Amino acid sequence: MRISQTTLVCAFIASALFAFDANAVDADAAKALAKKSNCLRCHGIDKEKTGPAFNAVAAKYKGVGTAEEKLIKHLASGEKAKFPDGHEEDHMILKTDDPADTKNLVDWILSL
Ligand code: HEC
Repeated sequence: MRISQTTLVCAFIASALFAFDANAVDADAAKALAKKSNCLRCHGIDKEKTGPAFNAVAAKYKGVGTAEEKLIKHLASGEKAKFPDGHEEDHMILKTDDPADTKNLVDWILSL
């Protein structure tokens, strides 16, 4: 069978779309994980609660190359968080064992 030019073009587009998809943020999965982990109790997506709004976090880290790495560590290690009233307590850890889920959530926050 001869491979037509159209077939090649289609295959190229399909693989380009697939590559794009693999890197895209899954916002629904990120929100579901944030909900499951009770993150939204203290964080609004665009509203400040006890903790900063997620879009304010995105603004704070805009252009910071190490933001993703720093936030992944923040959400996996439970480092100390400073609350508005001045007290400090261990920050909540994400309820997942899959680093890909954590990365997806962090990428989603940074994309807001
Ligand atoms: C009990 C309240 C509370 C819960 C629950 C909570 N956070 Fe936070 N979070 C805070 C506070 C307060 C800060 C500010 C910490 C600081 O500035 O030291 C913060 C900071 C952050 C930051 C910004 C860190 C930075 O370096 O600026 C991110 C991102 C974040 N939280 C994500 C999450 C996620 C995701 C969850 C769910 C696993 C979550 N938080 C659950 C209170 C909470």
